Amino acid sequence: MVILLGSEGYIGKEFQNQLEELGVETYCLFAYNYNYYELDTLKQVLYEKKPEFLINCDAYAGDGNIDNCEDNQDKTTRVNVSLVQTISKACLMMGVPWGHVSSGSIYDGEPPAANGFIEEDMPNFSFTLGNGNHYSMSKAKAEEVIAHTGGDYYIWRLKLPFDEYDCNTNLLSKLMHSNMNLDANNSISHKGDFVKYCLTLWQTKADFGIYNVVNSGPISTKEITDKINKILTIDKNFVFFENQDQAFKLGALRAQRSSAVLDNSKLRKAIHPKRVRNASKAIEASLKQWREKEQDKDVNGIPKSFWD
Ligand SMILES: NC(=O)c1ccc[n+]([C@@H]2O[C@H](COP(=O)([O-])OP(=O)(O)OC[C@H]3O[C@@H](n4cnc5c(N)ncnc54)[C@H](OP(=O)(O)O)[C@@H]3O)[C@@H](O)[C@H]2O)c1
Repeated sequence: MVILLGSEGYIGKEFQNQLEELGVETYCLFAYNYNYYELDTLKQVLYEKKPEFLINCDAYAGDGNIDNCEDNQDKTTRVNVSLVQTISKACLMMGVPWGHVSSGSIYDGEPPAANGFIEEDMPNFSFTLGNGNHYSMSKAKAEEVIAHTGGDYYIWRLKLPFDEYDCNTNLLSKLMHSNMNLDANNSISHKGDFVKYCLTLWQTKADFGIYNVVNSGPISTKEITDKINKILTIDKNFVFFENQDQAFKLGALRAQRSSAVLDNSKLRKAIHPKRVRNASKAIEASLKQWREKEQDKDVNGIPKSFWD
């Protein structure tokens, strides 16, 4: 049995669905049933359920906008760092291997090596270096806490998730529904691919540790918006900020955003290179199967938000 935290979230639901498809018994743990912020409570759950693995998708990401994490710093730290510390301690003490969903947003800018940031690179999106936001800081701190505790764990780094279903968390939806966007080169993670790759790492007993779980190859925001226009045959005039400073001046952003390319060689080596899809191909496939939220369409079948 697998214990899953955060099963009602964007990524957690996908874990639940794929675990069910694989026939893996899953026990979803909810904060309203158990106060698993308490170490003894969580240890007791692990003792009673005897899971073979635990997956943590719990997080506070500002309800879809990390700007809100700046206003709720205590909550962000409590869920993203303190809870992770409790989980890591409980899993270590009870001998339960586990997987934690982290974020590629702990990196920004030019990586030291040509193919992107590798797993061992120190997070460089931090207040101490004059950039950073509270959400990214909390995700970097959680990785530090897990490594410090030790035990058998995977840290799976997700970046800018998307798939074919229109929703507030989907990168494609965010780009389509925003009036202005930031252009940058990034790594991205197809949601279904991400979860499939994470579960493959666990099921094939890949070495524990950190993995950049992103699709192969960098992609720029402009490349994605061009594909949106071409594949969805819409003719939206995507407008871009000149830079983050302009976005701040216009009041569109309050927290600094990071952009970075992550090297996924370790993942490809662990689960076989051919299994990891190219980012550009994954975007195209999602757009070809694009499913808008029904209520968002106008009489001509065009998403209402398209005209915002
Ligand atoms: N979405 C992204 O763009 C993105 C990018 C990179 C990394 N990630 C990481 O991916 C993981 C999953 O994120 P997501 O996109 O699935 O987020 P999400 O949709 O907001 O889901 C977060 C989950 O955490 C739970 N949660 C929130 N506050 C909690 C609290 N105080 N105590 C316990 N549980 C709480 C939520 O439960 P309720 O629904 O009951 O509130 C929900 O199940 C997180 O680690 C996140 O940092 C996300």
